[in-house]
Amino acid sequence: MTTLTPDATDEPTVPFHLRDNYAPVMDELTATDLPVIGSLPAELSGRYLRNGPNPRSGRSAHWFLGDCMIHGIRLRDGRAEWYRNRWVRTRALDEPGARMIGDDGSVDRTIGVANTHVVGHAGRILALVESSFPHELTLDLDTVGIHDFDGRLESAMTAHPKVCPATGEMHFFGYGFFKPYLTYHRVSPAGELVQTEIIDVPGPTMIHDFSITETHVIFMDLPVVFDLEIAMSGGMPYRWDDEYGARLGVMPRGVTGVRPTWFEVEPCYVFHPMNSFDLVGESGSVEQIVLDTARYAELWRQGSAEFRNDASLHRFTLDLVAGRAREEPLDDRAIEFPRVADDRVGLRNSVGYAVATFGEHNAIMRYDLDDDGSVAHDFGEDRIPGEAVFVPRDGATREDDGYLLMYVYDKGADSSEFVVLDANEVAGAPIARVPLPQRVPFGFHGSWIPDAE
Ligand SMILES: [Fe+2]
Repeated sequence: MTTLTPDATDEPTVPFHLRDNYAPVMDELTATDLPVIGSLPAELSGRYLRNGPNPRSGRSAHWFLGDCMIHGIRLRDGRAEWYRNRWVRTRALDEPGARMIGDDGSVDRTIGVANTHVVGHAGRILALVESSFPHELTLDLDTVGIHDFDGRLESAMTAHPKVCPATGEMHFFGYGFFKPYLTYHRVSPAGELVQTEIIDVPGPTMIHDFSITETHVIFMDLPVVFDLEIAMSGGMPYRWDDEYGARLGVMPRGVTGVRPTWFEVEPCYVFHPMNSFDLVGESGSVEQIVLDTARYAELWRQGSAEFRNDASLHRFTLDLVAGRAREEPLDDRAIEFPRVADDRVGLRNSVGYAVATFGEHNAIMRYDLDDDGSVAHDFGEDRIPGEAVFVPRDGATREDDGYLLMYVYDKGADSSEFVVLDANEVAGAPIARVPLPQRVPFGFHGSWIPDAE
């Protein structure tokens, strides 16, 4: 993610999120047997899927509000078998004008743009947006329909559920404009929604993501609050609030009826944690929790919901014994889309990845957190990577033994590629590049969906 500030000299009447490579593509393509530059590892057998906004009308009030399009590439036996891009058939897409909030204040969570993330769990592929219920997709990116966990889901579902690599459970939350403002859910490895807890928070804030450890979940209640006046005028209905304060809530996993313990922190905003994990003390119990994030010192003060790209890697350490939070910057460079290997989510990680912006340059960062090191794959000024997704090598024993998958947009050629980097040699030349038959607009998050064993 870069160049998020619109260039005022360039078609000033068209907002940035509808111009250049933010502009939607209008064709749903299927291309097979794509050319490969370099060599695709034969062990990569599955699908890389990435979600993002792509308004079918060509217009949307905000980057976050465009209809959902999934761009997928299917890899097998060292070949790129297909690329396809599909709109998710949401009610927001098929019934323009359908409103999530009725005149009577009722909320219809079957309406939503599904444009933020796409994840696999319990044999399902879910397209997610934080306002609404998930949409289930087929392996060929066709829309199955709304998935509400057999009617058990009554809140929205975040686009950032966390699948615990130790248990296979999926943890998530939903937040809303109206009470209850925050609800936590746990889904069994088989995909059954087995726990729901209402979480008390002082007001309706924008809670984009959260985090887990082996023993706890962590909520972020930060001072970007819902504003009904802005909501009535359209656009993103949130603004910075100097009075709200900022707190992180730590709640035990797997225990019903519990409430979080809240830790006050300096006001800030975090869209995305990188990861969190427990620190066990001499007592043998969890005494501290570490939470690494891409942290903004402030967001949307004017209610303008303008985009910024000045988050940086920042560590919170929550001392469960003393009841206090410490925090420290880990880097001062601008990053977003922090990720760790899926099998390190909630566990102690030594390595994390992010998209970075250095001046006009665009890069994928590898952070080595135990020794404060970092390495960048610098794509230069004209090539812009999206979020990188880590996939382990077969039989990997180290958390960084694997590949980074992403789409990269080339400004000069106005085209996109699928790129594979070696996570151990991030700065080195890509292992493989797959030129795509059309550009992939800048988007949000994605996943590797491995073929079933
Ligand atoms: Fe996100």
